[in-house]
Amino acid sequence: MSKTRITVVSSDAQHLSQITSVLERDSNVGEISAVRCDAAQLEAISDMPDVLIVNGGLPENGGLESLARLRQSHPDAAFIVVSDNQSPEFLLKAMRAGVREVLPTPAVSDLLHDAIGRIAPKRKAGGGGQDGKILAMTSCKGGSGATFLATNLAWVLATNHGKRVALIDLNLQFGDAAMYVTDQTPASNLALVCQQIHRLDAAFLASAMIDVAPGFSLLAAPDDPAHATDVRAEHVEAILKLARANYDFVIVDVGRSLDGVSLQPFDMADMIFPVVQLTLPFIREAKRLVQVFLSLGYPMNKVGLIVNRYQKSGDISLEDLEKTVNAKVYKAVPNAYEAVAASVNQGEPIARLAKNSPVTKALREIAESLAAEPEKAGKGWLSRLFAAH
Ligand SMILES: Nc1ncnc2c1ncn2[C@@H]1O[C@H](COP(=O)(O)OP(=O)(O)OP(=O)(O)O)[C@@H](O)[C@H]1O
Ligand SMILES: [Mg+2]
Repeated sequence: MSKTRITVVSSDAQHLSQITSVLERDSNVGEISAVRCDAAQLEAISDMPDVLIVNGGLPENGGLESLARLRQSHPDAAFIVVSDNQSPEFLLKAMRAGVREVLPTPAVSDLLHDAIGRIAPKRKAGGGGQDGKILAMTSCKGGSGATFLATNLAWVLATNHGKRVALIDLNLQFGDAAMYVTDQTPASNLALVCQQIHRLDAAFLASAMIDVAPGFSLLAAPDDPAHATDVRAEHVEAILKLARANYDFVIVDVGRSLDGVSLQPFDMADMIFPVVQLTLPFIREAKRLVQVFLSLGYPMNKVGLIVNRYQKSGDISLEDLEKTVNAKVYKAVPNAYEAVAASVNQGEPIARLAKNSPVTKALREIAESLAAEPEKAGKGWLSRLFAAH
């Protein structure tokens, strides 16, 4: 694999030389260019490197807007911002501009090396892998049904299709995926695994998971929101890589957050399923989310909307949704209040509790199309996913 070409852009000479000297010690890094300029000049960069690092007040002063425009003409370049501003608003704005990572100032060398290490292979290999499939479920807004669908899909894939499925609950604040499908109390969880990340191997991961059903293991969310900070992007990356190598499907309940940690599963996912309902607040959020995915350079055939609680008689059609959000509908799951409420309240998979519910039927159809894919990853897999809804 060729070495990563990097350009560092800053209005601050000291930062420029500091970052450059950190990069010079990284064996993955090839040619490094240092450019001192302001935000307006940023857009004039014509020889785009693999990674563009932007720093020194530029991102805060119009640089993000310049990056967003650069993104249009250079979809393959990865942008890293080094900034003291770590506020959620800034991070979200950076993400919308297609920035891959926002690192604190001064860029601690380890953080920078890690970030470049994460970006380099991803850009060369694309999201998929030769192993299991990673499916990222995310709710566009609270209560869309992402957790219900993620957990129940995992159950159907394992039980009806004999697949080995790992579900990872990435709702770092009050994640409760386990309760949807089992009455077992998790003995371990994601935060505890991250605290002992040096022990991570297949056996350690398996021992931290609940065996929900034969073939279906679940890694619960941290039991205390205070432990959310123990979960870092590089941990999630390591866990997902390991899980992908050991399971046929890794389903991540990403929840609603959009930050460095949740970007990991989105980046690595073979498919991202934003769960929406056909009302305006959901649609607005879905549109924003899809825009973020676009600006991150994700191929849109890896994003499939799941319309939950779908009623044909509604004001808004699936076609309206696709046009507004700029993404394809992968599946519409009907509304079935009683059957779903009974399943969630009892912690019983709906496919066992209400075999004939239209929701069970929809889940079976999703599982069938996912499980039908032959072992080899290839173009056919993604295109088939969108065959019908
Ligand atoms: N197809 C459906 N028909 C009827 N009710 C549903 C359906 N899907 C989900 N629900 C209901 O919606 C509620 C919210 O679902 P769920 O907890 O999965 O949402 P979520 O997107 O994970 O929310 P959060 O963002 O808070 O994590 C569930 O308690 C369930 O009762
Ligand atoms: Mg949820």
